[in-house]
Amino acid sequence: MKKKIILSKRFISEAVDILKENFDLIIAEDNYNSLVDALKKNKDAEALISFLSDKVDKELIDLGENLKIISNYAVGYNNIDVEYAKSKDIYITNTPDILTNATADIAWTLIMACSRRIIEADKFVREGKFDGWGAELLLGKELYGSSIGIVGMGRIGLATALRAKGFGLKVYYYSRSRKPEIEKKEGFSYLPFKDLVKTSDIISLHLPYAPDLHHLFNKEIFDRMKKDAIFINTSRGQLMDEAYLTEKLKKKELFSAGLDVYEFEPRVTEELKQLDNVVLLPHIGSGTFETRLGMAKKNIKDIELTLSGKKPVNLV
Ligand code: GLV
Ligand code: GLV
Repeated sequence: MKKKIILSKRFISEAVDILKENFDLIIAEDNYNSLVDALKKNKDAEALISFLSDKVDKELIDLGENLKIISNYAVGYNNIDVEYAKSKDIYITNTPDILTNATADIAWTLIMACSRRIIEADKFVREGKFDGWGAELLLGKELYGSSIGIVGMGRIGLATALRAKGFGLKVYYYSRSRKPEIEKKEGFSYLPFKDLVKTSDIISLHLPYAPDLHHLFNKEIFDRMKKDAIFINTSRGQLMDEAYLTEKLKKKELFSAGLDVYEFEPRVTEELKQLDNVVLLPHIGSGTFETRLGMAKKNIKDIELTLSGKKPVNLV
């Protein structure tokens, strides 16, 4: 008999087909009001594939009386009470590595869009305002010869930094632990966080969220940044004081910001939407066909391992 598993929301169809072949698949939000409802009505489910937008807290975990694994369809897992799940001998897994390049690409998409004011420029043309080449039309900032400060030199931070070499930027980084081999091999320079923030022309955030990092980018830190700096966040919105960032952008005390994540996601404030000097994306960092399928395959592999009595690969 196929084992029952719950998928929080419909994901990429090729992966849904694989799941249906191998398991008794319940797609929660196709069949029930909510994930809570699905768990209540399927006490025999042995695995759950959760999304970033699911709050997998104590109450939810307690509903899954026979759960052996919760596999998050994301690399970040701050939506899950990991300690509590572990205390109940439930494995928690994520989808690292596979999404590294896609996410670094979206960081660069934002860097380019911000530095050359691509969204403003596109809008300008569509609104019929383009009436000839202009010496001062929509001027941006030169990337070559400028500097980028990478905050968090994990896999995604490194992939973002490596791309900077191709554009001729100087790379600074801050990380809790220094990476001497990377410094030597790639020519990147370590700076203490507060110095990095002051020195870099572009700052790109690549840390996972943890409560002690809440509002890491607060008033003090934003105020240390150069007045024409570009701020990029493709990691987690709660790492920044979004209201203060908005104020800085409004007063033009930063050149611009590129955001794929929000403090109160999925809510994006009206104030941000009114600003020209911010580029807003709907959390699509890992959103390529290849990566979203690859992530799903990681979830599936780890569930198969767990339900056949083995240890999953991507345990957090
Ligand atoms: C996306 O933000 C992820 O953590 O995978
Ligand atoms: C995530 O994969 C990271 O280490 O940045």
